[in-house]
Amino acid sequence: MPVRRVSVINLKGGSGKTTTAVFIAHALQERGENVLLVDADPQGSSIRWSELADWELPTVSLPTKNLHKQLPGITPREITCVVIDTPPLELQAGIVYSSVRASTQVIVPMAPTPGEADVLPDVRAVLEEMEPLRQDPLPHAVSLNRTVYRAISTRSTRAAAEANGWQVFDTEIPRKELYSQAFGSPITNLGAYKALATEITATEVR
Ligand SMILES: Nc1ncnc2c1ncn2[C@@H]1O[C@H](COP(=O)(O)OP(=O)(O)O)[C@@H](O)[C@H]1O
Ligand SMILES: [Mg+2]
Repeated sequence: MPVRRVSVINLKGGSGKTTTAVFIAHALQERGENVLLVDADPQGSSIRWSELADWELPTVSLPTKNLHKQLPGITPREITCVVIDTPPLELQAGIVYSSVRASTQVIVPMAPTPGEADVLPDVRAVLEEMEPLRQDPLPHAVSLNRTVYRAISTRSTRAAAEANGWQVFDTEIPRKELYSQAFGSPITNLGAYKALATEITATEVR
């Protein structure tokens, strides 16, 4: 069975990459996957979170432009699913390219704001540069987070992203204390990430 490898990427810091990576890693584990969380950000937020929370989910630091070459060698045989938390593309393009290259699918977390929607073309450029290196297109989708209940911004951002050819996950992650206060604590409540993990596993691994 090929290993599902999910990179969480975006242009800037603060878009929800670490929160998404950590929660989906735990949600995939709860679905019965043997998950490895890879922290490719030299800032090491996922690693720090894992230490503070003392969680058992295996978490390793691999902030290198050679991640795509090194990942197979460091992935234990029993692992079925790897989740990669990445640094901001604008700061560490080489690491993000390498993470995407190592992946079977890509998730782009973003809030439904004009500023975050504005950077999607920069993210698309990374995916397009990967195309010649692959046999099949690399599955990728936007995960809307920090959404506000019944706000028009969620619908309009989704519609605009879809009009530009993006797949947008049906699951929306609301703006909640559950997520904003989660750093450093064990993940005991998966919230909406449980549904997101179900959508992630619906993508074929190739
Ligand atoms: N759904 C959410 N609701 C509220 N706050 C959130 C949510 N997702 C992320 N955050 C907060 O947004 C900030 C940036 O998130 P983070 O995951 O660290 O982003 P990145 O890794 O892209 O820099 C953090 O303070 C985090 O707690
Ligand atoms: Mg981060």
